Amino acid sequence: MQLTINGQAYTVDDGDPNRLLLYVIRDELGLTGTKFGCGAGICGSCTLLVDGQATRSCITPLSAVAGREIRTLEGLAETDAQGNVIALHPIQQAFIQHQVPQCSWCMNGQMMTALAFLAQNPHPTEEEVVEAMSRNYCRCGCYVRIKTAVLATAEMLATQDATGGAA
Ligand code: FES
Repeated sequence: MQLTINGQAYTVDDGDPNRLLLYVIRDELGLTGTKFGCGAGICGSCTLLVDGQATRSCITPLSAVAGREIRTLEGLAETDAQGNVIALHPIQQAFIQHQVPQCSWCMNGQMMTALAFLAQNPHPTEEEVVEAMSRNYCRCGCYVRIKTAVLATAEMLATQDATGGAA
């Protein structure tokens, strides 16, 4: 089975199409930015994008993503041909600027969930951000800073769009 992740094609064993996406990308493909939290679709740590939709990879079988575009944390930053980071994605910049993470375990899921949300709602209110992020748990309780960084990301993306920059 072929998977397309961050624009790159990967071939994975399709002997068991019910294998879960999280374990394949972490354990077989080495894309460890996506985190294991609850393993039950509840906490949001394992969220990645499938065709732009926030998707909990711990409960998503391989069969559900064949032929679809997967984007993980590793695919956010702009890189050169050697894979060196040229520029962090605005959401990564915002999370750093607003000093969001403590332990950082949930941050992958927070950022991927926020990106899917902002693609649908590029100019959200504070309340809409709180609602959109309410199913991603942060055991350090960084919710206020997460909200601030998501709002800051929306502003940065809007500025990029206005000036013709890449998102
Ligand atoms: Fe997937 Fe918690 S690890 S939702």
